[in-house]
Amino acid sequence: MLKNKTIERYLQDFSCIIITGASSGIGRELLSRIEYSGTAAVVFNLSRTSPENISKAIKFTHLNCDLSQPTHIESVVMDLKKLMPANGRILLINNSGFGAYGEFPKPGIDHTLRMIDVNSRAPVHLTALLWEDIKSRGGHVVNVASLAGYQPTPLMATYAATKAFLLNWSIALDSEGREFGVRCTAICPGPVSTNFSKAAGFESSTGMGGQTVQECVEESLQAMARQRPQLITGWKNRLLGFLSARLSKPLAAQIGLRMIRKLKLDRFVKKA
Ligand SMILES: NC(=O)c1ccc[n+]([C@@H]2O[C@H](COP(=O)([O-])OP(=O)(O)OC[C@H]3O[C@@H](n4cnc5c(N)ncnc54)[C@H](OP(=O)(O)O)[C@@H]3O)[C@@H](O)[C@H]2O)c1
Repeated sequence: MLKNKTIERYLQDFSCIIITGASSGIGRELLSRIEYSGTAAVVFNLSRTSPENISKAIKFTHLNCDLSQPTHIESVVMDLKKLMPANGRILLINNSGFGAYGEFPKPGIDHTLRMIDVNSRAPVHLTALLWEDIKSRGGHVVNVASLAGYQPTPLMATYAATKAFLLNWSIALDSEGREFGVRCTAICPGPVSTNFSKAAGFESSTGMGGQTVQECVEESLQAMARQRPQLITGWKNRLLGFLSARLSKPLAAQIGLRMIRKLKLDRFVKKA
């Protein structure tokens, strides 16, 4: 891991760091960078499984939480408020999320509704319950959205819509929060090699390539340190985002459908 003074200084500026979904993928890499930064912050992870091999050098607590359950969110925030240091800036990273592929409502109504809960409802709920603390102490809310949030995406219609919600909500909240010293950043990765494909119902990697988790997180942390309202990670993804934003949404959806069909992703879908 390369030293990066801007990122380390940024991470050292908080007394409390709360991340969701650091048990795997992008969240776990963000946590590794937090471990490596030498921050004195108290660090919390919220997810259903605990991250492994955490460095003893940070003050870390895993709090079990299924973010699809509003009651879990309420009770975990009560625990957080007892455990959080009383002063200092707060960094909240809403990273947990998962996808789905297939003609609506595949892979199933339950999966689809849980995805809305984890990807869109939970970040709003968690942030709202912590908002007064973040406002009074100063802080940064980071939302891991997706490149898919920039256009309507057939065959991933609900997933992309959850991320469009998160992206727009995050940018709007950034405008509201500035006057209180609170900033928000929406991170929008394209394909990144993590457990994401498996959780989205694919048997094996879809071969879509993309960024390594390290590349994605390095760029994300740079954008967070610069308090940018949004970032699409990876230059190819930025180009795609730029081009699709210039098309009408129905046209972008039609072109998207043709492109996704060409990828023949059905080959990789787990058999029921
Ligand atoms: N990888 C990509 O290609 C890609 C592209 C664009 C955006 N993203 C976004 O990046 C974020 C991280 O995904 P990833 O790629 O790192 O995938 P991942 O390796 O599958 O990690 C997903 C994380 O979300 C957590 N999570 C899922 N359901 C949860 C629930 N009900 N309650 C609490 N936590 C839950 C998981 O924790 P537990 O299982 O322990 O609960 C896990 O730590 C997601 O929001 C995803 O939409 C990923």
